[in-house]
Amino acid sequence: MRVLGIETSCDETSVALLEHTENQLKLEAHLVASQLEHHRPYGGVVPEVATRQHLKQLDPMVDRILKSQGRSLEDVDLIAVTQGPGLASSLMVGFCYAQGLALASSISVLGINHMEGHLFSPFLSHNCAPVFPHLSLIVSGGHTMLVYVKEPWNYKIIGRTRDDAVGEAFDKVAKLLGLAYPGGPEVEKRAQMGDDQRYAFPRSMLHSGDYAFSLSGLKTSVRYALQKQDKVTASTINDFCASFQKAVIDVLVGKTEKAIHSLGVKTLTLSGGVSCNRTLADALERMCRQSDVRFLGTIPEFSTDNAAMIAYAAALRERDQVSSMNKGLDIDPNWQLDACSAL
Ligand code: KG4
Ligand code: ZN
Repeated sequence: MRVLGIETSCDETSVALLEHTENQLKLEAHLVASQLEHHRPYGGVVPEVATRQHLKQLDPMVDRILKSQGRSLEDVDLIAVTQGPGLASSLMVGFCYAQGLALASSISVLGINHMEGHLFSPFLSHNCAPVFPHLSLIVSGGHTMLVYVKEPWNYKIIGRTRDDAVGEAFDKVAKLLGLAYPGGPEVEKRAQMGDDQRYAFPRSMLHSGDYAFSLSGLKTSVRYALQKQDKVTASTINDFCASFQKAVIDVLVGKTEKAIHSLGVKTLTLSGGVSCNRTLADALERMCRQSDVRFLGTIPEFSTDNAAMIAYAAALRERDQVSSMNKGLDIDPNWQLDACSAL
């Protein structure tokens, strides 16, 4: 069977074609249209701008990807579309488009949870079958969570952020430091040239005894330290980036390590936009090596929002005959990942 994936949950318009044969999932092609240039002047995602870009891009992209593979809609057996969570007005474009296409072509539609897509993206990246049980660390612009996946289609969120998501904290700190949007990649680049010991930023909730995260205090500490600085040079900014990034990574690695030991899992995965951060992936990989745990990161192509991961999750659901947990003909902007558990 062939799956057409559609993702429009935030500010990337993306489509994918994935073929699912008896024993393998093969990504045939995928396209991502980033809207970065349209949002950069505003220093963040503007919902109306995102909606309009999705409306403009989506249909031609579906056309383009089918043509690039010498295919037509007749070769598609299933349309997989992100149903939530995400920006309501963005989700609506992809979801309505998918429903319209399905009506016109009699292809069925499967609504996929965006976080489930991220959760599977390390396996897509490594072209290997999902491993169970595993622990999944998902760090993106909108979410930070530790998910215990004991068996297929069983998600237990053991920790999440109480305030800012990791990507959000990177973006906000970058803004404070006057760096370009989106801040994450810029902070990482600067951090490589900086001294991560110069500023003693808090490791919030590292010893809280649970797996909850909190990043807004760290952001405030950066603001105060910056206000106290007489002269801010390029090298000061590099040191701020390095010290901030180190504080975030220490907490993520520390909490993840505790969860690995307490659950006794032998596989850790990392996904979401922030998994592009090499310093974070390296630190987690090091910790896993010391704990004799297999580490699976996500390649940048599948870290940030993309439709390949949505098509992949849908193909696995089809294979296992586990239908979508959200059958409504509506988007679900707050759809929780654990509500997708089938067990
Ligand atoms: O998964 P994603 O594309 O969108 C959401 O679903 O949120 O994640 C985007 C986030 C942004 O906050 C961006 O700054 C962050 O991922 N990001 C990074 C890096 N690359 C992207 N954060 C830290 N270091 C990076 N290299
Ligand atoms: Zn995402």
